[in-house]
Amino acid sequence: MKRRLHLPAIAFAAIAAYSAGALADDARVASLVGERCALCHGPRGESSTELYPRLAGQHAKYIAKQLADYKAGRRKNDTMSQMAADLGDADMMALGQYFEKQPVKAGGMQDADLAAAGKYLYNNGNPWSGVPACAFCHGPRAHGTDQLPRLAGQRAAYTAAQLMKFNQRERSNDNAVMRTVAAQLTEFEIRALAEYVGSLD
Ligand code: HEC
Ligand code: HEC
Repeated sequence: MKRRLHLPAIAFAAIAAYSAGALADDARVASLVGERCALCHGPRGESSTELYPRLAGQHAKYIAKQLADYKAGRRKNDTMSQMAADLGDADMMALGQYFEKQPVKAGGMQDADLAAAGKYLYNNGNPWSGVPACAFCHGPRAHGTDQLPRLAGQRAAYTAAQLMKFNQRERSNDNAVMRTVAAQLTEFEIRALAEYVGSLD
């Protein structure tokens, strides 16, 4: 007997499988966020203390890339490597999409003079030492792109810590772009840049 394809049946099965998958993903993301990420990053990515980065409004692909880097050990942090150890690619992307959608809060400014120095550096770089303008890649309002992280509204302590890590070559998951940029930065410049981008929304 000749085999016949029942196209509508196949299409129906595909749609049913897709929606079941989509529902399972939503439930899984909700439980991962609620039972794991929320403790440090907050249920909506707002971050619970200065120690933890904000994820709200961060680009989904960037979040997924960082999770994959932690899992593979390309980005080194014991806590986050444990958090990402059992996540699959689909989980990483779904978590990224969840946090990208959450509302962004402006970080607030502790020191306006420091932020003003940061603003100059962010937009112009330091032509005397060869630091490039951050705005060139991260955008005029530090909103980033799909490939590049948002810095606006990020906790200043976290941003400063990451710039130190790039500067000391402890963070090396970006094929050397940020390492080259941060290599020239002084601690004053790092504090000023972190203060400025943290104050943007
Ligand atoms: C116990 C606290 C803790 C928990 C729980 C936690 N994280 Fe983190 N997360 C951190 C710390 C600390 C860092 C900064 C690490 C570093 O310096 O690289 C971080 C960094 C990140 C980054 C990188 C942010 C950036 O801007 O580059 C992402 C993405 C992230 N976490 C996602 C998650 C997700 C998703 C979960 C839940 C599955 C989670 N984290 C659970 C503490 C935590
Ligand atoms: C040539 C493009 C380029 C320039 C110029 C640049 N960046 Fe970056 N930056 C990147 C890329 C790409 C990444 C993502 C690295 C990764 O995937 O981990 C990044 C990551 C970062 C991070 C880590 C964000 C996080 O959430 O962990 C910080 C902080 C940062 N950049 C700050 C700056 C500052 C401040 C300047 C200006 C002094 C600057 N960048 C200039 C391309 C650039």
